Parts: sequence; structure tokens; C-alpha cells
Amino acid sequence: MTLLIEKNVSLLGYNSLALEAIAEHFCVVKSVDDIQQAIAFARDQRLTIIVLGAGSNVVLRHHLAGLVVHVQITGVQFERIEHDVLLHIGAGENWSSMVEYCLQNNWFGIENLILIPGNVGAAPVQNIGAYGVELSDSFVSLEAIDIATGKVHVMQRDHCEFGYRDSVFKNSARDKYIITRLCLKLSLKPNMVWHYPALKAALEAKTAVSEAPLTPHVIAASVTEIRRQKLPDPKVLPNAGSFFKNPVITREVAERLLIGHPNLPVYQNELGECKVPAGWLIEQCGYKGLRQGSVGVHPLQALVLVNYGGDNAAELLAFSETIKVEVEQTFGIHLELEPTVYGSF
Ligand code: EPU
Repeated sequence: MTLLIEKNVSLLGYNSLALEAIAEHFCVVKSVDDIQQAIAFARDQRLTIIVLGAGSNVVLRHHLAGLVVHVQITGVQFERIEHDVLLHIGAGENWSSMVEYCLQNNWFGIENLILIPGNVGAAPVQNIGAYGVELSDSFVSLEAIDIATGKVHVMQRDHCEFGYRDSVFKNSARDKYIITRLCLKLSLKPNMVWHYPALKAALEAKTAVSEAPLTPHVIAASVTEIRRQKLPDPKVLPNAGSFFKNPVITREVAERLLIGHPNLPVYQNELGECKVPAGWLIEQCGYKGLRQGSVGVHPLQALVLVNYGGDNAAELLAFSETIKVEVEQTFGIHLELEPTVYGSF
């Protein structure tokens, strides 16, 4: 079938911040063949390609030149290998629905990642993570189409260069591939991760009351509760989740900061580096719950910027810049944006 490519399409319904952006060209792809047609069109017309999943981790400026390719490849296949299950998932499947499906089948490993918005294809790009678990923990490989050649590649984990909210697709391979399928390895045996402070506290309270045994289902229920309490539903209050990454600083810098700010929460990682919560830094600067024009910092989670009804990214990006400057002046720490910004004004 010939792929439908439209011109000047509004992306208002395709991004969780509900920003008004216009794609110069736009298409929905449901198969590898569709993607190859889209690539051929872009090559003929000399257009750059922007890949859009569920749009839950992007900030769209008003004008998106080129061809926006919205991936809707669906389908799930699985194979059992001893105590594991290998899952092959289409990039257009909803991530959280996949987590629920896996829990229903008693396939474990991604239960802490329930309710993370977005589609499966976007999950490896920023190596989604929450409550002590990251996608990379269960990642096996992915299938992606090289935009330059139209060829299908299978990329193993080493190729993907996963880091904290980071992968090769945010760096040297940015905008070079369209991810079509993800392969994860889950386990039939629970291997529960519950050391993350907020989760541990919630589970202790829950199991003390009900005396229920700890299971991956209980973990998923607790994560669901925590997220619903703190994180705004983008359908009700448009947002893109965490707007900044949690900065990683050296131990020396952390020790120096602790002298002036003894309450600064510091989490040391395996490499001896220190992660500090950007939400805390922003809150200390007085921005939690602050609203400026049609944008603001969420009152319950300072890391989430929300759109109260504006329709362009300029106001939001200017506000985020003010926050960055304030945090830099107060703590000497540079905040990095977590979502990807596309387009021009
Ligand atoms: N904090 C504050 N004030 C706030 C928010 C946080 O002081 O308003 C401090 C507290 O010390 C708290 C700590 O930050 O103990 C951690 O807060 P929280 O557990 O809410 O997590 P986070 O660091 O703010 C990260 C992820 C979230 C993920 C949670 C849970 C990033 C950029 N964000 O947030 O991911 O759900 O941990 O694991 O790493 C996302 O990526 O979009 C996202 C929501």
C-alpha cells in the first residue's frame, strides 16, 4: 500500500505537553515497508526525518521542518527458554500496557517501570528507569532501520551504550535510526528490586498492614500508588515527566556542597559518583508549585514542569532556563534537560 504523507499537520494531539507544533510533512508508519517508503520520500524531497513515538518525552517548538514519522508498529511475540521469556515487542505498543501484560503472565523484571508514559520504541532511547530499575536491566536487543540506507539492523546491548537516561540514540546515533522492535528478557522467577527509598517505605507500610507477602504484583501496585500521588497525569495536566536529569557530581564537589547545604540528599553510584535530586535543588530555589504565565513547576514534584494551557514551547523553555540559571547560581550545578527538543520557532 502506498504510504499517506500529509502536509502541515498539527502535532497538538501527538505530544504530552500539548504544545502546538506543525509538521511540514507527517506520516504514520505501521510496518517496515511503510518506513522504507517514508525514507525514500524523504530522500527524494531532501527532507530530514524526525521520529515520533507517543510524544511523552519531547518538547516541540512551533515549526518542525522535514518529515515527522509517527511509529505505530504493534504486535508481541514471546518464546520461553527455561526460566526466562524472550519478548519481541513492536515499537508502537504502549509501554505501561506491556508491563501489565507481562505481570498478568507472571513474567518479571519490569514491574517497577509500570505507568511510565510512552511507547516501547522510545524506552531504549532514554533508557527509561524508575524505582531502582532501568530498561537496560532486561534489554537484549532491538531492531532499527538505518535512515541513511533503509536497511534493517539488529543492535545488541553493547551497541546501545546505555547510561543513566542515556543511550547511543541520544548521542552519536541521534536521528539516524527508526526503532521498530524491542527484545527483552524477563524471568519466570521474581527477582524483586525494592531498595529505592520511597518504594521501600511504601512497601513496608503496605505489608505491615496486610501482612501480604512481597510479590512483583505488590511492587507494581505500590509504584502505581506513588506515581499517581506525585506525578500529574499528562491527559489532565500536560507534562513530559521529569524535565531535568538528576545531575551527577564528583564526591569532592558533593562534600564541598554538603558544608553549606547539610540536608542535600546524595546518592552514590557504583562508580563512586554522586547523584543529587534535581527536584530537591529546584525546590530549595523556591520554584516548587510556582507558576509563571501558562507554565509552572508541579506543586508535588519539583522535577516536573507543567503546561497550564499555553500552546508554544517558547514560554516553557524560557521558564526552564530561568530555573537552570537559579540552580547554577545557588549550587554551582548545571542541570541538563531530560526530554528532547525538536523544531524551530
Ligand atoms: N525531591 C525534593 N523535592 C521534590 C522532588 C524530589 O526534594 O519536589 C527529592 C527528595 O529528596 C526525594 C528525591 O528528590 O527523596 C527523589 O525524588 P523522587 O523519588 O520523586 O525521584 P526523582 O529523582 O525526582 C527520578 C526519575 C523519575 C522516576 C523517579 C523514581 C529522573 C530524571 N527522574 O525522579 O523518572 O520516576 O526517580 O525512580 O531520573 C522521568 O524520567 O520522567 C521520571 C518521572
